Amino acid sequence: MKIGILNSGGDCPGLNAVIHGVVGAADRLGWGVVGFRDGFEGLLSPDMHFELTRYNTNGIVKLGGTILGTTNKGHFAAKVGAGDVMAVPAEIVSKAKKTFTDLGLGGLIVVGGDGSLTTAMQLVREGWPVVGVPKTIDNDLQATATTFGFHSAVASVVGALDNLHTTGTSHKRVMVLEVMGRQAGWIALHGGLGGDADVILLPEIPYSIEKVAARVKERMDDGQPGMLVVVAEGAKPAGGGQVKKAQAGAEDRLGGIGQQVAEQIEKITGRECRTCVLGHLQRGGSPTALDRILGTRFGVMAVQLIRDRQFGRMVSYQSYQVGSVPIEHAVHRLHLVDPQSEIVHAARAVGICFGD
Ligand code: F6P
Repeated sequence: MKIGILNSGGDCPGLNAVIHGVVGAADRLGWGVVGFRDGFEGLLSPDMHFELTRYNTNGIVKLGGTILGTTNKGHFAAKVGAGDVMAVPAEIVSKAKKTFTDLGLGGLIVVGGDGSLTTAMQLVREGWPVVGVPKTIDNDLQATATTFGFHSAVASVVGALDNLHTTGTSHKRVMVLEVMGRQAGWIALHGGLGGDADVILLPEIPYSIEKVAARVKERMDDGQPGMLVVVAEGAKPAGGGQVKKAQAGAEDRLGGIGQQVAEQIEKITGRECRTCVLGHLQRGGSPTALDRILGTRFGVMAVQLIRDRQFGRMVSYQSYQVGSVPIEHAVHRLHLVDPQSEIVHAARAVGICFGD
């Protein structure tokens, strides 16, 4: 038995831990593993794959990124614009199928987010023996309580806030940190809570800039030496829209709201503001211990699903257990922050302002 694995979409800390889990579990079953380079693109060419062994994957669990490479573009990109979905053309799928068949593979593990798992689902419907592993720092997939990579991204946000706090308080400034997450505010919410932010702006809770400014003014007039404001890249004012970077023919890219919020706070309050866009620092670097463990467990479960011929299923994490769900339960339905949830209430209880 030989199986294949690919990473697709944006990279994320913990991808190498998944590979580690897959190779280890497959090895114990006496199976071989083939890794495809650059996501599904690796299926389109006879020289874009290589054998993964215990030896050439030794020590990768601590590495960020992915040793396989990945892409969120190319022939298999399922998502366009503001989340519309496109099917992969038949001639591309059949070219990929030829590589898969020529290699004599008995299963394919697709490690990806919403877009890549949409492609995986198309392949399942066309009879491929595919299982999915959820991957995203945004934590926005349904049917899994969390994904690996999220914890590492939150750790980066907390570290950044710790640093912004010391410089911000020294200068008595309002420090605005823009973080990733697309349409979901999970990174901003957890990062802001862990980093002791004063204000957190989320896509799920439209804000009023006047209320944000009023909170800044109140606290700083009261003697607080600096303020930390975390803004999710997808945050939007009540009645307003998200700030997007122009991008033709691919999924929309968000960004720029942090600067806008900082300029408005400065204008209304007269307090000096500075903006920091954390960007890809949230995606890069070594995974946290938690993400290494979760990634490894996800990889092991993916191999078990293939062993049990549970094709069309995705590894999932619920109630501290790794299990699985049908892939279609996870895609096209975003897992968003519930404004009425306990964590939002806890944040409000410690005085964090959401601008509403
Ligand atoms: O989905 C993960 C993510 O990091 C988002 O949080 C962010 O909006 C996007 O990917 C950035 O994508 P890219 O690496 O293509 O700029």
